[in-house]
Amino acid sequence: MQLLNQKSDQTRKRYNRVATVYDLMEKPIEMLFFRHWRRQLFSQVKGRVLEVGVGTGKNIPYYPKGLKVTAVDISEKMLQNGQKRAAVTGKTVQFALMDAQHLAFKDEIFDTIVATFVFCSVSDPVEGLKELNRVIKKDGRILLLEHVKSKHHIMGKLMDILNPLTVKMMGFNINRDTVTNIKNAGLSLISENNLKGDVFKELLAVPCKEIS
Ligand SMILES: C[S@@+](CC[C@H](N)C(=O)[O-])C[C@H]1O[C@@H](n2cnc3c(N)ncnc32)[C@H](O)[C@@H]1O
Repeated sequence: MQLLNQKSDQTRKRYNRVATVYDLMEKPIEMLFFRHWRRQLFSQVKGRVLEVGVGTGKNIPYYPKGLKVTAVDISEKMLQNGQKRAAVTGKTVQFALMDAQHLAFKDEIFDTIVATFVFCSVSDPVEGLKELNRVIKKDGRILLLEHVKSKHHIMGKLMDILNPLTVKMMGFNINRDTVTNIKNAGLSLISENNLKGDVFKELLAVPCKEIS
């Protein structure tokens, strides 16, 4: 992995720190919601797949059989846990330590890119999404699960206030506007599906079609 800037290195260190307790901390919300949303997301995945920010590999059990997946993460400790999960579930996954903001792949090679709860953590999310735009095929699809800042005034304010705490303790932001970030990265947002309130969303984006 190329040298990280200070902010990305901080993110790497934070996730390295929480890697051993990450699954335990997320267990309640995973059981209640996330696992259902992951299953639904991965039923739409096909072709050559890139998973960005694979973390401890919580999506791996939902990879359809025979799917060829490359999975990257900035944190070596999270990635190691992902590798263990792949071994347990018997799924073939090619892992690489990589920054979403500097993907070491050629242009337009993936049919599907998946990222779940990742662009809340990537230090420059627009840069990361631009990289997804670069490596996705012209007819490819980008599938995301994300939590974003609520549009409700009080809830949104509360998220702003609590954000420094979640960043420091866990490494993720709770007040990102990922829908706008997707558009600012030059992608077209095809669908925005609210999963829980207006905070948890399933998002489908594609590269912008050039007009010739
Ligand atoms: C909240 S966790 C989500 C992990 C997993 N996708 C899931 O659904 O459980 C965010 C993950 O994104 C990774 N991450 C953060 N910034 C990244 C970057 N710039 N490039 C690649 N991975 C990154 C973190 O190391 C962490 O594993």
